[in-house]
Amino acid sequence: MKKGRILTGHRPTGRRHMGHWLGTLENWRRLQDDYDCFFLIADLHVLTTSFDKTQAIKENIVETVRDWLAAGLDPLRSKMVLQSAVPEHAELQLLFSMLVTVERLERNPTYKEQKKELHLGKNASLGLLSYPVLQAADILVYRADTVPVGEDQLPHIELTREIARRFNNLYGGTFPEAQALLSPTARVPGTDGRMMHTSYNNSIPLSASEDEVRQKVLSMVTDPLKARAKDPGRPEVCSAFALLKAFDALFPVTDNFTVESVEEDCRGGCIGCVADKNRFADAYIKALLPFRTIREKVPPEVIWEILASGTHKAREVARETMGLVRERMSFTHAQLPI
Ligand code: TRP
Repeated sequence: MKKGRILTGHRPTGRRHMGHWLGTLENWRRLQDDYDCFFLIADLHVLTTSFDKTQAIKENIVETVRDWLAAGLDPLRSKMVLQSAVPEHAELQLLFSMLVTVERLERNPTYKEQKKELHLGKNASLGLLSYPVLQAADILVYRADTVPVGEDQLPHIELTREIARRFNNLYGGTFPEAQALLSPTARVPGTDGRMMHTSYNNSIPLSASEDEVRQKVLSMVTDPLKARAKDPGRPEVCSAFALLKAFDALFPVTDNFTVESVEEDCRGGCIGCVADKNRFADAYIKALLPFRTIREKVPPEVIWEILASGTHKAREVARETMGLVRERMSFTHAQLPI
């Protein structure tokens, strides 16, 4: 007996990186054993910021699903769903948009941040403002009760719960109050020590070649006071050590070093940063091997077949939900025999 239903997803913005893997994908992979999982390719959400770069989306969908498969998401057990191919997401979003105020959406921290980061000023679109309303529709159109996400998404899950409550109060119990499920690995540092992020140019792609992985790891920021190998270092300020810890939490390193031995060697000035980073790179290269091999094996046609099959199954659930929603809202007159 599965515990409940999961919906979560990514915006298809290209190749996945170690931050996606350690921060979300490995967690999702493990959850497949216990939950009925819907993994969403949120291509409509890409439009909220990249409506002028739509040609890239198709290729990015393929890249994203490839990395999902390589990370162990299993299309036989879980549904991989293409958001734009299920019009019920947009329909439910429209109905939900009546239940939330503009003022409430303007208070959303991710909206405020995006508006500032992208220097949008008065040019922020209605689509960007209603981003979390579409996300609420993504979750509730499948009546999912569990949403594994990173901390940055918590405000969106809170809004989803508010919308579900509002709908249930107005029209009768229909939706579960979905719970966020935080990944154990909250923050994966990039090469510059900031959070690993596609747009910060600090990420290590999962499909990187061995040389690329090594070169990226060697470029990681370490303790500036440890200039020579024999200087004692402070692992707590070292981004390479922070990444190692995030990796080790999911894939314990036991080869010829451990997190504890690295910490000791670093503090004691027994090893230099370059030697250390080379050891870490070896471990990552080994762990990332399946990403390159699986990726190379899966042609685009297979990706589209996988998406078609998952989306087909998902759409049945979405249709069923919309039937229920129309009934609860006394909107059955919309079912004209056309
Ligand atoms: N907003 C999420 C992100 O940027 C992506 C997303 C879209 C999502 N719809 C969702 C996540 C529904 C969880 C549930 O990562």
